[in-house]
Amino acid sequence: MQIENLRKHYPGAENTALQGLSLNFKKGIIAGLLGPNGAGKTTTISIICGLVKADSGLAKVLELDCSNDIIEIKKKIGVVPQQFALYPQLTGKENLEYVGRLYNIPSKSLKGKVSEMLAHFGLEKHANKRVSQYSGGMKRRANIIAGLLHNPELLILDEPTAGVDVQSRNMILDFLKQYNVQGNTIIYTSHLLEEAEKICDDVAIIDEGKLIAQASPKQLIASAEGCNSLEDVFLFYTGRTVRE
Ligand SMILES: Nc1ncnc2c1ncn2[C@@H]1O[C@H](COP(=O)(O)OP(=O)(O)OP(=O)(O)O)[C@@H](O)[C@H]1O
Ligand SMILES: [Mg+2]
Repeated sequence: MQIENLRKHYPGAENTALQGLSLNFKKGIIAGLLGPNGAGKTTTISIICGLVKADSGLAKVLELDCSNDIIEIKKKIGVVPQQFALYPQLTGKENLEYVGRLYNIPSKSLKGKVSEMLAHFGLEKHANKRVSQYSGGMKRRANIIAGLLHNPELLILDEPTAGVDVQSRNMILDFLKQYNVQGNTIIYTSHLLEEAEKICDDVAIIDEGKLIAQASPKQLIASAEGCNSLEDVFLFYTGRTVRE
């Protein structure tokens, strides 16, 4: 992923969401896009997957241009949004089969894939329950499955572990590691810095729509004075003021 001087101001908004953001993530890694509330993480992801149009600047993924090649990009990337993208009145299985059909996955392999993923994410018993009856953690897991049914080579997840318990979190992180080992790239956002420190090869810290620091967690910790963890580094660069 390559982003250069990206700018975005939402009409009528008080702050400019992206103020010349530049960053690069290499292929084949697990990358963390970190930053306080309102830093511009979701906006960046939304531009990459074609949901939001940047005012100016360049965004490319898999050598494709996010403003022109969005149809091609959509086939190759998977996006797991911060807000649940599930129909509450449909069951988990119905939701996932619907998403799979949107990706033109043949019906036979789709059914198998949905069952396999539901089992892997501990939702087997809840497959035929309406999503409105799911707990927050169950919705989060179903939301993740929806983003990866088509085996994208780049998987982008916006806070995939928000609001899930320790068991689910570990399962999700193990899955992401395994998916990465299979040769896929992962870009994800999280407010859990201990978690990002453990699984990310490369981390970009953004604040107020700009890149503040980027390196491996180890390099960041070593280079910021008095810091022993990624959380220390994060506070070192972004300060202690509470955001929006
Ligand atoms: N649709 C919108 N209309 C107006 N302003 C918006 C919109 N979406 C985001 N913003 C503003 O743009 C800025 C960046 O928001 P964004 O959602 O990208 O941040 P974030 O880093 O994902 O934050 P969080 O950690 O809270 O999810 C914020 O100031 C936010 O209020
Ligand atoms: Mg966000």
